[in-house]
Amino acid sequence: MSENRDPQKLTRRDFVSGVVAAAAAAGAASAHGSPSTLQATGAPMIELPKLPYGEGDLAPHISQETISFHYGKHHKAYVDNTNRMITGTELAAASLEDIVKATAGKPDKKGLFNNSAQAWNHSFYWKSLSPKGGGQPTGKLLSMIQSDFGDFSKFKEELAKAAVTQFGSGWAWLVVEDGKLKVEQTPNAETPLTNPAKKPLLTIDVWEHAYYVDYRNRRPDYVTAVLDKLINWEFAAANLG
Ligand code: FE2
Repeated sequence: MSENRDPQKLTRRDFVSGVVAAAAAAGAASAHGSPSTLQATGAPMIELPKLPYGEGDLAPHISQETISFHYGKHHKAYVDNTNRMITGTELAAASLEDIVKATAGKPDKKGLFNNSAQAWNHSFYWKSLSPKGGGQPTGKLLSMIQSDFGDFSKFKEELAKAAVTQFGSGWAWLVVEDGKLKVEQTPNAETPLTNPAKKPLLTIDVWEHAYYVDYRNRRPDYVTAVLDKLINWEFAAANLG
């Protein structure tokens, strides 16, 4: 059979190519095949932030395999889902923080809250870790720890306990509220970001995907490694201000 070209199909193919080229030129090629109205307008989308270190830089405490899946699959999925859910809505151009705050506690926005809060929590978690972490904080943060918890080792025990005893998936946090440091737990995607009185300083992800490849069911060993070797006190101090 000869391959006679249908002028109509050619026209359609050319049209589709033109649309794709225009979208690409605008830096707005869609992962779903056709450029959305939002993308065509060039409005900002939520981006997956770059890791502040290499995927293998937290090894041997957290392996490259864990980070690769945790960042490249889990975190990316939360970002992608958030973008899919905000496209064409009143939150399409909102910042990630504003999306989290606008959807918190709203049953009809639960899916968007879960995905956007998880996107925010993970960005905060990566910065809460450092290949040069561990040890003790200094300066104002250490002084506040000493006055609010007694001493650093008692504080560290309390933070570890919060991380280890969070039932099921969730997060352990160091926050400041009314000038005092507090250790807290949140389940699932919940985050202190939604409470205007609280300012998160650092977090530890205790979802199983954060440690199961490296530690299996030994969450306490993962938490100990994070606190001894990876926790980023400089990030917490910078957040404290
Ligand atoms: Fe996670």
